Amino acid sequence: MPTTLFHTQLEMSTLVRTWQDSHETVALVPTMGALHRGHLALVEAARRVSDRVVVSIFVNPLQFGPSEDFARYPRDIEADLALLDQHGLTDVVYAPDTSEMYPEGHSKTQVIVSSMASVLCGQARPTHFAGVTTVVAKLLNVVRPNFAAFGQKDAQQLAIVRQMVRDLNFPVEILGVPTVREPSGLALSSRNRYLSPTEKGLASSIYAALLRAQEKYLAGQHDARQLEQLVRAKLGEVGLEPEYVSIVDRDSLQPIEGEIHRAATLAIACSVGRARLIDNILLTSGS
Ligand code: PAJ
Repeated sequence: MPTTLFHTQLEMSTLVRTWQDSHETVALVPTMGALHRGHLALVEAARRVSDRVVVSIFVNPLQFGPSEDFARYPRDIEADLALLDQHGLTDVVYAPDTSEMYPEGHSKTQVIVSSMASVLCGQARPTHFAGVTTVVAKLLNVVRPNFAAFGQKDAQQLAIVRQMVRDLNFPVEILGVPTVREPSGLALSSRNRYLSPTEKGLASSIYAALLRAQEKYLAGQHDARQLEQLVRAKLGEVGLEPEYVSIVDRDSLQPIEGEIHRAATLAIACSVGRARLIDNILLTSGS
């Protein structure tokens, strides 16, 4: 079945109402387009639990800082639709334009998950997560899904969305989906298009460093500082200078200093060429 394309909230919410009237469940996969296999893994996870799958495609101006890549962010709706058609698991693509999403210009109301939005990527991108949670809240209200899928690749975004949904009683179950990687270990990302082949090689050192730290952790090294230093040293060997290397509580995102006693995320942000890349790995003995 070819994927239906909607641009307006009215079309989207009208169809969702007919699904819900016939007791079909709906899952939303929010994206900014430039789709790759990572996005498709979210669609697959959504399809496993839900009768209907909606993929939203919207490059959200609110989550880009003034000097960030909003203008040059890759946009190719035709290629995205072709990929989803071929994949065959998506019912509807919801691709509103900016005036449909923000009819009054900039949204006066913003959703801010305080404390979690200012750590890690929030330090260099202070308005980013308010932009993300505001647009995700709006999408949840338009589509009213039973499920919404997010990638573990953006661990901070996933933790913040989970917190928002709890705090504001959104009637939706959040699905966290494991990171899809290239054979080299590099996490798939729309921003990898900015990398030259040499830079791609360098960028794969990020996951190699994360894996090394996870191995050390599993072998008994539970000191957060030591593990962070190990990662910095590994990146330094190939000339990469990370923006941050940080071990934080998986759910609250608060930094862990000293011994790691609970499920933790080891997160990295690092620029390679023109691309600012992020990646992370879970540190838990159980999984
Ligand atoms: P975007 O970067 O397009 O990512 C959409 C979703 O795909 C996010 O949940 C992200 O974590 C997931 N994703 C990206 N790369 C992945 C990979 N390699 N493996 C698994 N999942 C991956 O994240 C956004 O858009 C926006 O902030 C959005 C949530 C749509 C709000 O505007």
